[in-house]
Amino acid sequence: MKEAQYIWKDGELVAWKDATTHILSHTLHYGNAAFEGTRAYATPKGLAIFRLSDHTKRLLNSCKIVAIECPYTQKQLEDAHIELLRANTYEGNVYLRPIVFLGYGVMGVNHMEAPVNVAIAAWEWGAYLGEEGILNGIRVKTSSFARNSVKSMMGKAKIAANYLNSQMAKHEALKCGCEEALLLDESGFVAEGSGECFFIVRDGVLITPTYENSLESITQATVIEIAKDIGIEVVQRRVSRDEVYIADEAFFTGTAAEITPVKELDFRVIGSGKAGAITQRLQKEFFSLVMGQNVKYSHYLTYI
Ligand SMILES: Cc1ncc(COP(=O)(O)O)c(C=O)c1O
Repeated sequence: MKEAQYIWKDGELVAWKDATTHILSHTLHYGNAAFEGTRAYATPKGLAIFRLSDHTKRLLNSCKIVAIECPYTQKQLEDAHIELLRANTYEGNVYLRPIVFLGYGVMGVNHMEAPVNVAIAAWEWGAYLGEEGILNGIRVKTSSFARNSVKSMMGKAKIAANYLNSQMAKHEALKCGCEEALLLDESGFVAEGSGECFFIVRDGVLITPTYENSLESITQATVIEIAKDIGIEVVQRRVSRDEVYIADEAFFTGTAAEITPVKELDFRVIGSGKAGAITQRLQKEFFSLVMGQNVKYSHYLTYI
């Protein structure tokens, strides 16, 4: 990890190495914390945070879902992101990780008396699934873990505890020689990746699962918007794993993964086994958007 100079913590900028928390912090034991993953791109006009207000809104929504009262407003949190990026020095694209967590003071499952801490870290981070993955695609395995059931977990919240499921799926996929996991829902339909949403292309139509069993992804929404704008038909519906095997193209989307083609699922080659034409077109449009080269979407960028 490439460290930066400062981390924003509870209203102040503190040195990176001093942004620590007590070993008995509530979240460390019981897993309740809301967080975000946001990117800032090094555009020709300087760093620009992509969809800051949407990420911050989702952070506050996550807090609401898991009954954590965030002590900061949307505006204060957005300002804190900007303050942090201005204070640090970066040479490339940046990944931002705001987290609202439960600190030190009480033990036991009941979290209502635990102090709420808020931190934002931001560091330079390249392609999550690798530059090679973005260019030529990755190998994916359908996970033996089903996505967290909506009966017992809350997938609309980006919360730490949800990521045990993701972590186990990712671990299994890596151990099997693949780069990422595809998780199905309890009925056997595609839900999402361990940290990404999923798309396929069939006969020129872009198909992605509904939000029923996944995070309401900001990148997925952006890709749908771009696709419609350039005249690609988009359908949100259930997708089964065998439909993925016979798709012309497949790719993951997410803040970290950006748009990463999937070249293989469960050892079946998808389409040509390379990034397909529609995937490449969407990558081109997406990267031009986040780099501030498409004025139509300039409202999505917050320049630092
Ligand atoms: C489980 C999961 N699904 C989907 C996504 C993609 O969401 P977004 O595009 O908002 O980053 C992420 C990443 O945040 C994720 O962790």
